[in-house]
Amino acid sequence: MAEPARRVWITGASSGLGAALARACIAAGDQVWLSARPGPRLDDTVAALGPRAHALPVDVTERAALTAALATLERAAGLPDLVILNAGTYQPLGLANLDPAAIRALFALNVFAVSDALAWLGPRLAARGHGQVALVGSVAADIGLPYAGPYSASKAALVRLAQALRPEFERAGLVLTLVEPGFVRTPLTAKNDFPMPFMLDADDAARRILRGLARQRFRVRVPWTMSLLMRLLANLPEACSLPLRRRMLRS
Ligand SMILES: NC(=O)c1ccc[n+]([C@@H]2O[C@H](COP(=O)([O-])OP(=O)(O)OC[C@H]3O[C@@H](n4cnc5c(N)ncnc54)[C@H](OP(=O)(O)O)[C@@H]3O)[C@@H](O)[C@H]2O)c1
Repeated sequence: MAEPARRVWITGASSGLGAALARACIAAGDQVWLSARPGPRLDDTVAALGPRAHALPVDVTERAALTAALATLERAAGLPDLVILNAGTYQPLGLANLDPAAIRALFALNVFAVSDALAWLGPRLAARGHGQVALVGSVAADIGLPYAGPYSASKAALVRLAQALRPEFERAGLVLTLVEPGFVRTPLTAKNDFPMPFMLDADDAARRILRGLARQRFRVRVPWTMSLLMRLLANLPEACSLPLRRRMLRS
């Protein structure tokens, strides 16, 4: 008898990397539930993906709405086999515009929406005894670069969260993966006006990420070139790193 299709839930799936991950999962035969805020962008993305794609509209920063959406998904299809917590955002925030509301909004999406989803899913997946959860971080977590401090801090929070939870996930028979992309061509990076080395197309990034997820690796960093560059930068002594970071200041 044929294996039942894998059930995948992806947040931030109306555009960019999330939509590309949904496309790649559908191509692999999965049933995919796509979440983003309600609206035509999500509807159009789901419609373009065909009958194995399902919309699960929700603002993931609203905890009550998030848990209600997850309960709806569980009732309709059961708990997912693969969860990709991908919704996230970036905006340049430096000394001149260190806006407290913007920083809170960034953390609400990049960190607290992730921990809220984990809080609801974790015990339920553990009780079931199988499943994979991927948190989409960024190589930007490796080091704080000018204007990316709040973003880098939010993604670094995911690294620590994932490291801390990994042993418990494993003991419960679950797989926890930290996905850390370099630059990916998406609506988010289209706004950037600085050089973005080793940039990947979203569909290429999604295929590489799904390969890493299938291998059940803890950290999936793509592409390896950008991963290495950021690791090298992060491991320089401060006396070498600071002059490089100063050169990234805008005039
Ligand atoms: N692009 C890169 O170079 C890059 C590099 C490293 C890491 N990442 C990470 O990859 C992830 C995806 O980034 P991307 O470049 O694909 O960004 P994107 O094109 O801006 O997509 C972000 C997605 O998140 C959704 N979203 C935003 N706010 C939401 C909310 N409150 N509730 C539910 N969904 C929400 C958006 O949908 P709606 O606006 O329709 O709600 C959209 O589908 C992020 O976590 C980002 O930090 C990206």
